[in-house]
Amino acid sequence: MSERRILVTAALPYANGHIHLGHLVEYLQTDIWVRFQKLRGHRCIYICADDTHGTAIMIRARDDGRSEEELIAEMQQHHIADFAGFDIEFENYGSTNSPANRELCHEFWQQLRAADLVVERDVTQLFDVEAGTFLADRFVRGTCPHPGCGLTDQYGDSCDNGHTYSPADLIDPVSTLSGSKPEVRSAPHLFIQLEQLHPFLEAWTQSGDHLQREVANYLKGHFLHEPLRDWDISRPAPYFGFEIPDSPGNYWYVWFDAPIGYIASTREWCEREGENFDEWWRNEATEIHHFIGKDITYFHTLFWPGMLKVAGFNLPTKVHIHGFLTVNGAKMSKTKGTFVRAATYLEHLDPSYLRYYYAAKLTPRVDDLDLNLEEFAAKVNSDLVGKVVNLASRSAKFVAGLGLSQVYPDDGGLFAAAAQEGEQIAAAYENCDYNQAMRRIMALADRANAYVEQHEPWKLKKDPEQHARLQDVCSVVLNLFRQLAVYLAPVLPRLAEQTGELLGAPIEHWAESQSPLCGNEVAKFKHMMQRVEKEQVQAMIEESREEAAPAMAPSDSGDALAAEPLAEEITIDDFAKVDLRVARVKSAEEVPEARKLIKLCLSLGGTEERTVFAGIKAAYQPEQLVGRLVICVANLAPRKMKFGVSEGMVVAAGGGGKEVYLLSPDEGAVPGERVH
Ligand code: MSP
Repeated sequence: MSERRILVTAALPYANGHIHLGHLVEYLQTDIWVRFQKLRGHRCIYICADDTHGTAIMIRARDDGRSEEELIAEMQQHHIADFAGFDIEFENYGSTNSPANRELCHEFWQQLRAADLVVERDVTQLFDVEAGTFLADRFVRGTCPHPGCGLTDQYGDSCDNGHTYSPADLIDPVSTLSGSKPEVRSAPHLFIQLEQLHPFLEAWTQSGDHLQREVANYLKGHFLHEPLRDWDISRPAPYFGFEIPDSPGNYWYVWFDAPIGYIASTREWCEREGENFDEWWRNEATEIHHFIGKDITYFHTLFWPGMLKVAGFNLPTKVHIHGFLTVNGAKMSKTKGTFVRAATYLEHLDPSYLRYYYAAKLTPRVDDLDLNLEEFAAKVNSDLVGKVVNLASRSAKFVAGLGLSQVYPDDGGLFAAAAQEGEQIAAAYENCDYNQAMRRIMALADRANAYVEQHEPWKLKKDPEQHARLQDVCSVVLNLFRQLAVYLAPVLPRLAEQTGELLGAPIEHWAESQSPLCGNEVAKFKHMMQRVEKEQVQAMIEESREEAAPAMAPSDSGDALAAEPLAEEITIDDFAKVDLRVARVKSAEEVPEARKLIKLCLSLGGTEERTVFAGIKAAYQPEQLVGRLVICVANLAPRKMKFGVSEGMVVAAGGGGKEVYLLSPDEGAVPGERVH
């Protein structure tokens, strides 16, 4: 097979947010594909960057009171660390706010102008006078203007009932930036007349293998069956981005310069590594593969090929599109704690688990993918720990010091049969059908485990006369294990490395799955992978919920009320049953065994005291509490807890975790007084 030259990209993550488990579907899917190509001996590079421009970043920097450059530099460090933590390896991780990108944007622009594709037209938008900026649709809320709808508090472009409209038509619009009423203003924008590229885009999307069939059909049914609309690619100042050279005061819209970032990041790599840039982006022999999520299909399958065509760069060989992540069957949720950041996951769990779980779920289709947390633990434990690593842990110790047999023993054809499956497994990887690849690999693991059960090395160990046989059996098992480690190497690079160390032969090429090792020394077996414990998953969810709390911190926007609707009506007599008293904190101490609890001793005046276990450890230090007044529910039935009896409650607001706010009376109140 001749060596292919392949350039692979994943979408450039926005620089205004952290990497989460949803993003990782894509960056892992891509990393596995790149590692697979490298293992097959191809020249393959993985290029990415942060997507740094646009209104959202400008606003966030403004809110933080710092420059956009500071914000994006910090975020890039987080992103790089998160990806490294998941063993995602890029040849280059750049930024769209780079000199290389600015230069390339100019180059694209010249070509688009030369092809006479750019026109200018006035656009009416809402303008926030206080914030001094035009408002993107998601920064405006108001009432749906659709006759008979009247839904309030809706976005600038569409309402929850599915009506779409122009933000200028929204009734009672309010800017979410300043809370003020925006004005309707008009400004000139630059458009690309995409319709002129219609015949090319029709041919490119509908022929060859550039897109999954379902994507090609979707484009045909939704866009290509009618004239393509002009694409608005400029934004008036203020805007964080690149100013358009021949249109001062106007900036390229973020989606214009973002995909050009793929090329700019490649150029940085070429300059650093002394590679020939044109070989990668202006040579038909190079394959270009983009991996993206379904939400950004339009940009990558219509605008982007159009831009590349006009500017004279390689067209994508294929755009691979995946679905969205759900967790436990639902959208990721901050309140449920299922919106998990990459960094939070890594505090609790091994990255190999997620790499394997996603691989087992990914197919070449655009379907959404569910992370079911129970299945996640069960699958990792049964497949990786129970079937794969177990092979090594049950055999290596018997041959450490002895080494593998000099001649590969008769294994009844097991190794050869598994070697033959290699091409089918490779075809599944190539086709992004990792689900199929994992199923085939686990079927081979089952056969290897059956061999272990049948030959019972632990029994052979007990009989000195059987030690030669023991060496043979373990040599078979370790070779079958290593063969699996080669097949799994794109998904589990750490396991491949550990296997290389165990048998003194690094795994560097797919061909290593085709012939067994003989006579190698076997190192002392080191633990390769732990089981996933339910508590670890639970702790990750718990922490994600707590992290999300500040983002959902009560504001006057009504979010807090919406998160917890008002309770059923009660009478004044019902209320009178609750005996609320002013109390002074006499002592406060952490309960070391409990993650959340502080033990409080409250004085109600005189000798009347209450012991209360309060879930406020994340929000308060015990020493901050001693001496202060709080409000206590004094007639609550005592409750037996693991650490003692709790004799009441202290009253607090907030969503939990760090967001807990104890209530206190104004000055003058004394312990024991009733709160009415
Ligand atoms: N900045 C743009 C991409 C520009 S590419 C020139 C963007 N950024 S993003 O941070 O929102 O998303 C990056 C990638 O992650 C996208 O391909 C997106 O589809 C993917 N995902 C983001 N959330 C996801 C899930 N919940 N599930 C699966 N993929 C998700 O879009």
